[in-house]
Amino acid sequence: MLVGERQSDLIGQTDLLRIPSLSDLTGCDIFLKCEFQNPGGSIKDRAAKQLIEDAMERGELKPGMTVVEGTAGNTGIGLAVVAKAYGLNMLAVMPNDQTPEKERMIRLHGGELMAVDPVPFKNENHFYHTARRLAEERDDCWWANQFENTSNARAHYLHTAPEIWEQMNGNIDVFVSVAGTGGTIGGNSKFFKEQDSTIDVWLADPDGSGIYEFLKTGEYVSHGGSMTEGIGIMRLVDNFKQAKIDHAVNLPDQDLVTISRYVRDHDGIVLGSSSALNVAAALAAALKKGAGQRIVTFACDLGERSASKLYNPEYLRGRELSPEPEAIDALFERYRSLGDKVLNVSWNND
Ligand SMILES: Cc1ncc(COP(=O)(O)O)c(C=O)c1O
Repeated sequence: MLVGERQSDLIGQTDLLRIPSLSDLTGCDIFLKCEFQNPGGSIKDRAAKQLIEDAMERGELKPGMTVVEGTAGNTGIGLAVVAKAYGLNMLAVMPNDQTPEKERMIRLHGGELMAVDPVPFKNENHFYHTARRLAEERDDCWWANQFENTSNARAHYLHTAPEIWEQMNGNIDVFVSVAGTGGTIGGNSKFFKEQDSTIDVWLADPDGSGIYEFLKTGEYVSHGGSMTEGIGIMRLVDNFKQAKIDHAVNLPDQDLVTISRYVRDHDGIVLGSSSALNVAAALAAALKKGAGQRIVTFACDLGERSASKLYNPEYLRGRELSPEPEAIDALFERYRSLGDKVLNVSWNND
């Protein structure tokens, strides 16, 4: 149990939960690091805390200043929580196609929100460039830059991974993670590989993201789109560059419907969409490698952040997805025959 002086002191030290249903079905132990327990409700609280604390220590950021960041939402919420703890203001620049659930939380935490049209990265009005420009224009603003500022991956290297290592008694076979900035997979995989180079690191990628294709061919190419938010990227950024990856798998949104309903109905866990992708990829790893594996992944946030998309039948139908989950046996069968769709990654970033 933590005793904190400020709310940001309560970030981290999250619990680890074995998912009973899928563990029993696969004969593996599939663990979820419960990052929804952070005060801002997601794994991005960790990056927010490290980004702000490192900048304050360097003297770049002082009480009374405004933190500016381009965000899909969760980083904005995390930064708003940490900003308040240190007497800072928060301005989040967010594309206006993300779930309103996250916009609301930024405002509830006292953050200011600037919603912009979603445009490709090369467009100067992309949320990333808009945040940078706003911060450059004003002396009292500081740009967090979660993509290139490696305090992000450092949060996971210094805290998340050592917590998991201790909770798992240093006994991990497979580590599975999605990637947005790559801070999570970067910091955790670096730590795990230093402890035990045989730990098998899996990246889970949604449609619409170029990471899987980058790891396969060296080019960022994407196919289709995804309802997931905050994950997938079309460029190589400094936090992702730290990642040590052995396997990558691309899985479709329809599988997130199946996994999220199965885990909700059997275990009472309401996964957010990126977490459903993590669990789907953990299942793919379990079925490829066979019984007895100890697999760890994240519940990055809870399904309440995805309520208007993943758990909304009307929205799903609008994306030509079925709100009806596939039978779990059928999904198992498909995952058993993923074959070379599970990429053996040879990308070397040493
Ligand atoms: C719900 C959720 N999951 C996963 C991620 C990806 O984490 P990272 O940026 O560390 O790669 C994000 C990032 O915003 C997120 O909001």
